[in-house]
Amino acid sequence: LSGFTVAIDGPAASGKGTISKAVARHFGFAHLDTGLLYRAVGAKVLDGQAAQAAAEALVPGDLEDDRLRSPEVAQAASRVAAVPEVRAALVDFQRSFATRAGGAVLDGRDIGTVICPDAQVKLFVTAHADVRARRRFDELLGKGIETTFEEVLADVQARDARDMGRADAPLKPAKDAVQIDTSEMEIAVAVEAAVSLIKAKM
Ligand code: C5P
Repeated sequence: LSGFTVAIDGPAASGKGTISKAVARHFGFAHLDTGLLYRAVGAKVLDGQAAQAAAEALVPGDLEDDRLRSPEVAQAASRVAAVPEVRAALVDFQRSFATRAGGAVLDGRDIGTVICPDAQVKLFVTAHADVRARRRFDELLGKGIETTFEEVLADVQARDARDMGRADAPLKPAKDAVQIDTSEMEIAVAVEAAVSLIKAKM
């Protein structure tokens, strides 16, 4: 299964991360949450570094920073993600991950469109913004992060607008992506659907 790539894109809190992890575990594929790359660059910019230099100097250890899940870092990530030089600096790492031995799942915003246009399977996972905000709100509460539903909804909507509106690699489904709307779907059902789609392409 060398070079077998599953590309999973979609907006924040659509369920793509959970689906990606479950699918990777099911097939024994490696998994890369590419949002972490942008979050790591965003965190460095909040620390005062220049975005392009931070992206070019990124090392795998940077992805383990505990702060990466915070809403502040998420916003910083979506700002640096609009900078073409930042995106360009992260391409090679993602592509070599995608073609590693044993298969790979990458999730993000532009995997099926830009990073891995030849991926064997492309999924685009969506859900209504209020459903996604509710999920993210519950997740943040679970981590003890203090916030309100309204704040989380505004955060999700601001990131959606920025991610879909940017000129370079905007968030959109690849022409050959299969769309999965998780608004009213148990995540386990979405995982099963993804597993069947992948099996059909193996
Ligand atoms: O997926 P996650 O919410 O962790 O991503 C954080 C931000 O990183 C997104 O809002 C988006 O702006 C950016 N991103 C991107 N391309 C990717 C993955 C994430 O632009 N492939």
